[in-house]
Amino acid sequence: GASAKIAPSMLSSDFANLASEASRMLRCGADWLHMDIMDGHFVPNLTIGAPVIESLRKHTTAYLDCHLMVTNPLDYVEPLGKAGASGFTFHVEASKENWQELVQKIKSKGMRPGVALKPGTPIEEVYPLIEGENPVELVLVMTVEPGFGGQKFMSEMMEKVRVLRKKYPSLDIEHNHENPVTVLVDGGLGPSTIDAAASAGANCIVAGSSVFGAPEPAQVISLMRKSVDE
Ligand code: DX5
Ligand code: ZN
Repeated sequence: GASAKIAPSMLSSDFANLASEASRMLRCGADWLHMDIMDGHFVPNLTIGAPVIESLRKHTTAYLDCHLMVTNPLDYVEPLGKAGASGFTFHVEASKENWQELVQKIKSKGMRPGVALKPGTPIEEVYPLIEGENPVELVLVMTVEPGFGGQKFMSEMMEKVRVLRKKYPSLDIEHNHENPVTVLVDGGLGPSTIDAAASAGANCIVAGSSVFGAPEPAQVISLMRKSVDE
């Protein structure tokens, strides 16, 4: 279908030249820019926050897909909304009690809500967030332990993608307003792992090291798009 989204992870870019790295990825055919926000607490690494998103937003109109690897996602909603984030994907492990409030606030700030889960978290934990009155629109299945780029793809996570796809058949149809949910995979994706993810039913692909490490990022992006669209 026409719903493939390829989202280079800017974690693998040269942060000192973020604006030019972003426009390079867009020229190479990226649909979204994936922004990994970490707090040094939920994960053992620290990256960027709202001030950097605000700076980048001045240089691009691209969809900024923010992945919040933070312990208190609620604290980030207002600043990221103001900064111009497009998507706000929080971790289910960090939102046990307050996800309804969280989703509502994300939407009220004009962002698209998503939920992410770590490799050790069962897929059942996100069902209430897809089925609630105020549902998330994207599910991010981590295919590495969150925190760092360049790790090995965990193919056993494809079972979660298959289960989601089976339970919510229209999950991938971006423009189906009855159930506009996207299934995103994140970690270790590239030419050698894309077919496994695509055939399991993922339609949005985050890729950092495989894209930024390639001599021709455009080729990697188009190869992954073909695999998803097939
Ligand atoms: C990991 C991040 C990913 C990461 C992906 O915590 O969520 O977005 O940057 O990088 P690669 O594609 O190198 O695994
Ligand atoms: Zn990510």
